[in-house]
Amino acid sequence: FYMDTHPKKEVVKKKNLITVGFAQVGAESDWRTANSISIKKTFSESKGYDLLFEDARQMQDNQIKSIRKFIQQDVDYIVLAPVIEEGFETVLEEASRAKIPVIVIDRKVSVPDNNLYTTWIGSDFYLQGKKACECLNKYIIQKGMKDVNIVNIQGTLGSTSQIGRSNALNEACDKYGWNLVAQEPGDYTQAKSKEVMKNILKKTKDIDFVYCENDNEAFGAIEAIKEAGLSVGENGGIKIISFDATKGGLKRTLSGEILFDVECNPLQGPEVENVIKMLEEGKTPNKEYYVKEQVFVHDSILTDVLVDGNKYDLLTVTDDYIS
Ligand code: AHR
Repeated sequence: FYMDTHPKKEVVKKKNLITVGFAQVGAESDWRTANSISIKKTFSESKGYDLLFEDARQMQDNQIKSIRKFIQQDVDYIVLAPVIEEGFETVLEEASRAKIPVIVIDRKVSVPDNNLYTTWIGSDFYLQGKKACECLNKYIIQKGMKDVNIVNIQGTLGSTSQIGRSNALNEACDKYGWNLVAQEPGDYTQAKSKEVMKNILKKTKDIDFVYCENDNEAFGAIEAIKEAGLSVGENGGIKIISFDATKGGLKRTLSGEILFDVECNPLQGPEVENVIKMLEEGKTPNKEYYVKEQVFVHDSILTDVLVDGNKYDLLTVTDDYIS
C-alpha cells in the first residue's frame, strides 16, 4: 500500500551529510523568524547537514505535502513545527512506515499513538499563560482595580500555544472574576491583530488589558489603540500583556507600552541537534524536552509571582536586553 501511494524517487544524497527536512509553520512572527534562523544555523553544510527547508505559510495542508515530499526524498530526519495539533496522524504513519524519525518542535501534535513521532521539544505554553495571569492578578491587586475588562487576541486557533495561553486566561477570568469582553484570533500576525483590535474598539473602549498571545499581535493592537486616539501603558492607558519577549517586545516593555512579556524561547536548533546526535549514536532520547523561559516586566512593577506554589523571579527590562 505504501509503495503504491508513495513511490520512492531516486534521490542522490549529498555524500556524508545528514539530510534533515524541516516543515516550518511560516514566517508569521518575529519569533518564527528567530526559530527558523536557529534551525538554519544549526543544520549547516559546514557542520555536516543538508537542510531542506519548507515554509507552510501557516497552512497545515502545505505541511502535509512537505512531509510527503521529505519521505519521497528519503531524508534521514524530519523536523516538524506543526501549525495546529490535530490532523497529522496519517502522514506521520507514512513517515513511520518509511522508518524516518520525526522530531516535533514548538507546538505539539495530537495523535492517538505517541510512537508516531520520536521526540517533542518546545515550551510549556499553559505555564506561560499561567505566569502571565498570575502577574496580571498581582498587578490588579497592587493597583486596587475593580471590574477588570480584558480583551484576548488569540493565536492560531488549534495550535498548542494558543490552546495553552487561552485556557490559562479563561481559567483566570473564572477564578478572579475578570470580564472577558472580547476573544478573537489574530493568527499571531501584526496585520490581522491590528484589524481585530480596530473592530473591537468600535464596539467598546472600556478596556483595561489586552492579552495578546504574541509580540506581533501586541504590535498590531498597540497601533490600533493609538490610531483610535487612545494611549497604552500605565497612567490611564490600555495595558498590554504579551508573549515571546522578542527584541521588539522587550523594547516596548522597556518603554512601558507592554506591561509584561512572557518569554517563549525560539532557539531550538541546538536542542534538535542533540536529539539527532543521540539517535545517530543509537541512544533513545526523552519523549519531551521543555526549553527554559523567563518573564520580563516594565520598570520593576512586579517582583516575584507564585504559580502553583512555585516562585518565579521577574526580570525588569533594561537597555542591556535590547542592545
Ligand atoms: O507557537 C509559538 C508561537 O508561534 C509564538 O508565540 C508565536 O510568535 C509564533 O508565531
